[in-house]
Amino acid sequence: MKVVSTVAEAYALVDHWRRGSMRIGLVPTMGALHEGHYSLVRRSVSECDLTVATIFVNPTQFGPHEDFGKYPRTLDEDLEGLKSAGAALVFTPSQSALYPEGFSTFIEPPSIAAILEGVHRPGHFRGVATIVTKLFQILPANVAYFGLKDYQQLVVIRRVVEDLNLPILIQPCETVRERDGLAMSSRNRYLSELERLAALSLHRALNVAEKMVTRGCCVVAEIEQAMEKELYASGANHIDYARLVDAETLATMTSLTQPCVALIAAFVGSTRLIDNRLMPY
Ligand code: PAF
Repeated sequence: MKVVSTVAEAYALVDHWRRGSMRIGLVPTMGALHEGHYSLVRRSVSECDLTVATIFVNPTQFGPHEDFGKYPRTLDEDLEGLKSAGAALVFTPSQSALYPEGFSTFIEPPSIAAILEGVHRPGHFRGVATIVTKLFQILPANVAYFGLKDYQQLVVIRRVVEDLNLPILIQPCETVRERDGLAMSSRNRYLSELERLAALSLHRALNVAEKMVTRGCCVVAEIEQAMEKELYASGANHIDYARLVDAETLATMTSLTQPCVALIAAFVGSTRLIDNRLMPY
């Protein structure tokens, strides 16, 4: 496995492989890797000739009071894991390589970025759209793998790729969960033992929503209220949102007349967690 940190080296390698008709899979990450990330890498390895992973904690997607400074950085461990998972190349750029002095060009994200996460994390998707577009330029892969855990991120990236005619396929991949249902996340490392239990509140609230839909409830407001109740009852201390929205457009719905997804962002202690589930339809 090669590890490179300059844009020139990374581009040259991927360009060379593409010219040799290799199918290249890309797994962009911010490091602090867990089984969710490795499952993306393994999927890429099984579907592509060569897999490229990136590790870069992207400053432009963090708000001024968010956790950029304390985001876990575990490079040695990550590289070991990526090697075992079968990555051929890892791109580990410095901040100045991607955001040189004078940097001021951003991708204006699609309108779908303004709701939900966009309300609570203003500027987040502008940073995501910008970094992902830059990575797609530097590492011209055939297909990029993203986890469904960041559901709105996936919808935003798909829209950016379509709107800007970027020549890359976006492959969504299932969320990987702990045995008890907690969605894997690099931010789970922030949780104390007690908070780890309370973090299950998101999974429980999604179970409640699914059960209600399965039993025939189709009034969105009732299901959203029930999710909120469960979140607080099982340990969340603040809810940013617990919504049921159109699975494709993330548009608001009042009754369940088309495929929809339940999306939650809530705090457990000072840790902000997100999770989601497609509802049976
Ligand atoms: O999902 C993430 O880890 C990040 O948002 C991404 C896509 C790597 C961009 O920094």
